[in-house]
Amino acid sequence: MGPQPSRPAKRFRAARTHGIVESVIREMTRLAIEHQAVNLAQGFPDFPAPEELKRAAAGAIAADLNQYAITWGAKKLRDAIAAKYRRHYALELDPEREITVCCGATEGMIASLLATVDPGDEVVIFEPFYENYGPGTLLSGARRNFVRLHPPDWRFDPQQLRAAFSPRVKAIILNSPGNPTGHVFDRPQLEFIAQLCQEFDALAIADEIYEHIVYGGAQHIPIMTLPGMRDRTILVNSMSKTYSVTGWRVGWVLASPRLTESIRKVHDFLTVGAAAPLQEAGAVALALPDDYYAALARDYQQRRDRMLHMLSLAGFRPFHPQGAYYIMADISNLPIPDDLKLARHLVEKIGVAAVPGSSFFSNPAHGKKLIRFCFCKKYETLELAERRLAKL
Ligand SMILES: Cc1ncc(COP(=O)(O)O)c(C=O)c1O
Repeated sequence: MGPQPSRPAKRFRAARTHGIVESVIREMTRLAIEHQAVNLAQGFPDFPAPEELKRAAAGAIAADLNQYAITWGAKKLRDAIAAKYRRHYALELDPEREITVCCGATEGMIASLLATVDPGDEVVIFEPFYENYGPGTLLSGARRNFVRLHPPDWRFDPQQLRAAFSPRVKAIILNSPGNPTGHVFDRPQLEFIAQLCQEFDALAIADEIYEHIVYGGAQHIPIMTLPGMRDRTILVNSMSKTYSVTGWRVGWVLASPRLTESIRKVHDFLTVGAAAPLQEAGAVALALPDDYYAALARDYQQRRDRMLHMLSLAGFRPFHPQGAYYIMADISNLPIPDDLKLARHLVEKIGVAAVPGSSFFSNPAHGKKLIRFCFCKKYETLELAERRLAKL
């Protein structure tokens, strides 16, 4: 008798994948396509990327920069990254030992967690959170300590944050400007986090992908620039949002040489490297003048104000983001005050896709009265969404 047929569904499902659920955001994108809905669910621009970047990428391919780049990043891009952080934050980074180019912030975050966190270590995560932090920490075997950010301004309670720390905590993940809340941590909040990291010998893993998308008086401060945090911070960033090229998959991780050494090991064997010609274009992007960044923030502020207005008209109670390009809205006043039901109704009957709030919380009940819209879209797209939302 030959081997017994196995039960593949169980036998070949590794334990580390058990807690991972399908991304709700990407599922909403699929539903948006199926129902021809305006996609205000997934955070990618539907307008063109800057011309000079497209030219630089096409030029690099034509010039035959089509083979593997150095695994931790093309020298030109690492130098451009170092120059940009010196220019914007007076941060001095050694491109040879402190910068790793990877496939987007997504790989940067997972590589950082796999490189620094052992199974059973604890990682502190603010919630509502960007949904990738869940799978990222699960893959590294970490236990998660969730700390709430409280509406309307999405600040943490210092007592609650302190209670989440112990000698078992290896790292805290912070995302500022934040997805989905739009909260920007100010200096006192960052100082409090930095103090806990030092007291408990923990790392700060800072996802700063929306660094240039800030509104009004909000200012982005990298936690790496705070006293005592230079060698205790892993800064994760990417071209995706700042240069409107989410499909290029080019990001970077900044960390002290000691941390970078292990992050590079993981990165090398996860992906070898990011697309070589796009790294060349990345060097052009990072050298763009300051007025590029000012215009980006101004432009998104107009789209944000437009979106706030249309959501209020449609009966939502939107929270005002200080940064990033999402709006969390309270749905308690709507005829369908349940996030999952409302999101389904919106995509199927109204023709607008959004993300149910429960997908941003460890306890889904905490997001039942919330829904997230993104506004990184053309004005025509926002207008179409406005006309459709008026039907609610
Ligand atoms: C907070 C945050 N981090 C990371 C990412 C993904 O970044 P990347 O495209 O560089 O992988 C996103 C995308 O929406 C995000 O919102």
